[in-house]
Amino acid sequence: MEVPTHVTIIMDGNGRWARQKGQRRLYGHKAGTDSVRACCEYAVEHGIRYLSLFAFSEENWNRPADEVAGLMELMFKSVLGERETFRKQNIRFLVIGDRSRLSAELLRNIDMVQEETAANTGLTLIVMLSYSGKWDILQAAQRYADDCLAAGRRLPLDETGFAGYLATAGIPDPDLMIRTSGEQRISNYMLWQCAYTEFYYTPVLWPDFRKNDLEEAILSYNRRERRYGKVD
Ligand code: IPE
Ligand code: IPE
Ligand code: MG
Repeated sequence: MEVPTHVTIIMDGNGRWARQKGQRRLYGHKAGTDSVRACCEYAVEHGIRYLSLFAFSEENWNRPADEVAGLMELMFKSVLGERETFRKQNIRFLVIGDRSRLSAELLRNIDMVQEETAANTGLTLIVMLSYSGKWDILQAAQRYADDCLAAGRRLPLDETGFAGYLATAGIPDPDLMIRTSGEQRISNYMLWQCAYTEFYYTPVLWPDFRKNDLEEAILSYNRRERRYGKVD
């Protein structure tokens, strides 16, 4: 089995999972953290280099205030709660997204754990938080424009150069994108980075997603032929 270098997951279906159980949406979000743990374990066991997880989109800020607050609190606790696992499993932890919308307390925790794990050489676990693909492309364009202004001229730019301005700079593009809960759309995720990503959709709701589901996605990926526009 060929293991993809970078697997990314749109973790979707927490709300529906909770509703099926007659519970509030936050109950589903909390249950989803077990799925995150299972996927990290699988990634470590199988030598996946990068696992990125779409945890909260720019558009998700438009959800009811109590759900947003609950999700941020869950993130706050999870970041602290997993420090020991990151140390033991040699995991490098990164958060990518629009930091300007996150609270100072959450940012403090994130920065602390990022620094603590910066030298770890195993799995790179990336949480995409307050992230959207259009936001990323726009902030990259703005930073490129700033550099041009500073240089007093239009600086040369190619695809590799532009990717260096994206929030995901230095991280290889996803090989496999998994979306749970049966939705078959990209929902403003890594628009630039997914240009040649293989997509895998499963009806499984995120809180039910386990190692065997991840393995099934990777087996499907193995049956694909990636052509990049060529003929052989
Ligand atoms: C995914 O589950 C988690 C986030 C988007 C934060 P949802 O909350 O979107 O669950 P559904 O899609 O309503 O079931
Ligand atoms: C995408 O899920 C965002 C995350 C999983 C974090 P949504 O549930 O927000 O997407 P839509 O609204 O169904 O497109
Ligand atoms: Mg959803």
